[in-house]
Amino acid sequence: MRLENTVALITGASRGLGLEIAREYAAKGARLVIAARGAEALDAAAHSLREGTEVEALALDVSQDAERLVHAAVSRFGRVDVLVNNASELGPSPMPALEDYPWQELERVLRVNVLAPLHLAQLVLPAMRERGSGVIINVSSDAGVEAYPGWGGYGASKAALEHLSRTLAAELEGSGVRVYTVDPGDMNTEMHQLAEPGEDLSGLPEPRAAAPAFVRLVEEETAAFRRVKAQETATAV
Ligand SMILES: NC(=O)c1ccc[n+]([C@@H]2O[C@H](COP(=O)([O-])OP(=O)(O)OC[C@H]3O[C@@H](n4cnc5c(N)ncnc54)[C@H](OP(=O)(O)O)[C@@H]3O)[C@@H](O)[C@H]2O)c1
Repeated sequence: MRLENTVALITGASRGLGLEIAREYAAKGARLVIAARGAEALDAAAHSLREGTEVEALALDVSQDAERLVHAAVSRFGRVDVLVNNASELGPSPMPALEDYPWQELERVLRVNVLAPLHLAQLVLPAMRERGSGVIINVSSDAGVEAYPGWGGYGASKAALEHLSRTLAAELEGSGVRVYTVDPGDMNTEMHQLAEPGEDLSGLPEPRAAAPAFVRLVEEETAAFRRVKAQETATAV
């Protein structure tokens, strides 16, 4: 699939990795639907992206307004070819050990990191199936695979997202819809700062280092499912 003239819906695209993916997709000629909760940062992102492409921007919470988001995308552009579930919730900061985790707060983490991506996928899938093509990319984390003390709540949500992605791909076999999970690797972003308050993260890679992998997955990958480490895939996909 070439990104040119496709419609890409990217959640959490007001800053960090989501904004860098949006920039890469815009440069390739995709039309964009972007979402985040904070209207000011989202408007600023949309304004800069509009220099290169058409952009529909919606200030909303993906765990509450998935239907409104997809409806707006289809009303404006008629379709969604690529869905990137990037928006994510870290949970309490600093991150508590599971023994002390306020478990009620995990519900919110799961709503944003697992249920919203599933809901959005459910909303775009019927039309993708009908067209026999589409790409769904779920942004995961190594915390969804490795057991890092303190990262258990967030990590459990990413592990669930990983499994959901693999199962979805198995269920979509032969449909022409591809499903990927991407571990973007450590990045110097607001979320990472929240995870490690007070730490100097200036030595970490900037999120733009991980964004090109999201282009390659759409344009070059053919496998129906793949788990990718974005910063290690310069030639892997
Ligand atoms: N940074 C890292 O080192 C790292 C490592 C591994 C994986 N990841 C993953 O990479 C992805 C991007 O993270 P990032 O580091 O780029 O984070 P970030 O810079 O904090 O950006 C997060 C984006 O998501 C939006 N967002 C958060 N909650 C939302 C919600 N409920 N509804 C709609 N939008 C929401 C934020 O805007 P608002 O706050 O205004 O809504 C923002 O646009 C996440 O899936 C994260 O888990 C990051």
